[in-house]
Amino acid sequence: MKSVLDFRRLDRSLSMVTCYDATSAAIVEASNVDCILVGDSVAMTMHGFDSTLPATPEMMAFHVAAVRRGAPTKFLISDLPFLAHRGSIDSCLAAVRTVMTAGAQAVKIEGIDGSEERIRHIVQSGVPVMGHLGLTPQSVHALGGFKVQATSSAAGDALIDQALRVQAAGAFALVLECVPSEIAARVTAALEIPTIGIGAGPSCSGQVLVFQDLLGLTQNFKPKFVRKYADGFAFVKDALDRYHADVVSADFPSAKESYVMPSAPPVAEALYSTVARKPEANA
Ligand code: KIV
Repeated sequence: MKSVLDFRRLDRSLSMVTCYDATSAAIVEASNVDCILVGDSVAMTMHGFDSTLPATPEMMAFHVAAVRRGAPTKFLISDLPFLAHRGSIDSCLAAVRTVMTAGAQAVKIEGIDGSEERIRHIVQSGVPVMGHLGLTPQSVHALGGFKVQATSSAAGDALIDQALRVQAAGAFALVLECVPSEIAARVTAALEIPTIGIGAGPSCSGQVLVFQDLLGLTQNFKPKFVRKYADGFAFVKDALDRYHADVVSADFPSAKESYVMPSAPPVAEALYSTVARKPEANA
């Protein structure tokens, strides 16, 4: 997936993953995953905050640029963070400029109430916009926590109305987060633009997961909608423990992992004697 045009006529086939740094981005670049979201979840996954509210346009741009360096060819969407599109039109466009010039090809905007004109303006300025409805984490305090949304038929009708407004404002796709599958199916059927689900069931046009969640890198965090494709936490911890043990036992570094002077005298071999490096031998 190279451009926003590839989002047309999606049929439950798009995979999107969040990403925040160049090393991880290089792995995503080598994978078959279609596109990357530098989400404002970066504030939680990479900076340890308990919500997305501390993310700023500058924080987003820093991570967008790193991801772009690691994944030069994947389609890359950046969140517009908390309140970035709600101030003056100038500050809104400055935030858009900050993330787009860092390497994003589109921005994602949470919510629609009071934002239609802004979305329209950004789209008309030549910047593709992805919408985001359902659980919108930037409104966590208004929503009373990270909760499943649109759980009644009436709330589902309201969500469809909001989704149609996102589409009418010019968005090219819509993220649906934490809504019942039946409601997501109705929203998807009502729209011409594709829906990208996270905790929104199988009827969406595509799916998105947070990199750390799908790789099991976060301990004690397993929402119902996450499928863990690896136990990354245990995998990485095991590697760190083996490294530590090798240092303690003087198995690392070996001669193979060390530099020697070009004309090293034979005595250099003694440096790699485990006896010589054992802690008690040095004591
Ligand atoms: O910030 C983020 O990671 C997101 C996804 C959960 C869709 O918005």
